[in-house]
Amino acid sequence: MRVAITGTPGTGKNTVCEVLSREGHKVVDLSDLAWKGGLIESPDEPGLPAIVDVERLDELPLPADDSVFIYAHFAHRLGADTVVVLRCSPSVLRSRLLKRGWNEKKIRENLEAEAIDLITVEALEKNKNVYEVDTTSISAEEAARQILEIVKGSVKGHEPGRIDWSEEILSWY
Ligand SMILES: Nc1ncnc2c1ncn2[C@@H]1O[C@H](COP(=O)(O)OP(=O)(O)OP(=O)(O)O)[C@@H](O)[C@H]1O
Ligand SMILES: [Mg+2]
Repeated sequence: MRVAITGTPGTGKNTVCEVLSREGHKVVDLSDLAWKGGLIESPDEPGLPAIVDVERLDELPLPADDSVFIYAHFAHRLGADTVVVLRCSPSVLRSRLLKRGWNEKKIRENLEAEAIDLITVEALEKNKNVYEVDTTSISAEEAARQILEIVKGSVKGHEPGRIDWSEEILSWY
């Protein structure tokens, strides 16, 4: 049973996966594996995003039959039994990314990706079981609990299409 945890940078993949790992679940950092496997190229200029060869993700040494949570902002590119997309309202995401010292351009690009549901749309292109968890105003522990519920089959309220940041975005203009 492979569960991919994905989402725009800052939505909480690392933080939630730390909770899952602490609780005894098997967790794999797909970015780390992809770097070690030579599937990520450093950008030509500092500040540009690294390029991931998503076509070759299947070549990575992933645990085969155990129950495992695999996380990265491109984890949905891997075929998974269940994909959980972490979401966060753009205003809260902005404050999370500002705390990292990211520049305005990089923050804006990521807020736009979040605003247009980019990762959910991409995840649905490749996977059947795609669900969302809104981390905007819950703790990482609660987000981890919701993920475990989804894996057990309690998906109500997590179906894609329920999260809509459009009102918040319209207030930008
Ligand atoms: N419910 C929540 N779940 C996860 N993180 C949360 C939650 N609420 C607040 N946060 C905060 O949001 C931030 C999320 O950062 P984190 O590094 O986990 O994101 P990420 O999705 O792994 O980003 P990246 O793609 O850049 O690696 C942390 O500072 C965390 O404390
Ligand atoms: Mg992370």
